[in-house]
Amino acid sequence: MTKFGKKAAATLICSGMLLTTAGAQVEYGPATGNAENGKQLYYDHGCYGCHGFGGIGRKNLANDVSGIMFSEEVFLAYLRARADMNPLFPTQNMPNYPADSLPDDSAKDIYAFIRTFKDDPPEVEDIPALKAILEAAQEN
Ligand code: HEC
Repeated sequence: MTKFGKKAAATLICSGMLLTTAGAQVEYGPATGNAENGKQLYYDHGCYGCHGFGGIGRKNLANDVSGIMFSEEVFLAYLRARADMNPLFPTQNMPNYPADSLPDDSAKDIYAFIRTFKDDPPEVEDIPALKAILEAAQEN
């Protein structure tokens, strides 16, 4: 934890979660990173494995209600603050991303890339395999 104290990080994250649960309409902070670089880094650091190529996966990032995505500062604090819960691999939990493996500049690029995501998943009607699975499940 270089730039943030643990207490500050916890406060940021708690306020982020409050914003999330309240579903409040808030102005998001600016993205100062480079989204094009961020796209490569998002793949290189395995974010897509849990969050999908477009942010829709284990935890949906492709929306505008994530308190964690509220600002770069909150996002960085979130990535760094997970040291105490660093899970053993393989895992479905969100890993810790310390600055020595994912520097601030790279994390800001990833932030800028995530901010380009749109929360518009295709209709079930447009995904034949999923439609067939849902229909089969309804028959039982
Ligand atoms: C092994 C799976 C996994 C990987 C890899 C992963 N995440 Fe996550 N992430 C999660 C899960 C699960 C959550 C939900 C909260 C939790 O478990 O703490 C989450 C939550 C988040 C959130 C907060 C969303 C919210 O509003 O609550 C952000 C932002 C995020 N991840 C970004 C990233 C980025 C950026 C990367 C790559 C650098 C990444 N994640 C890699 C599993 C993962």
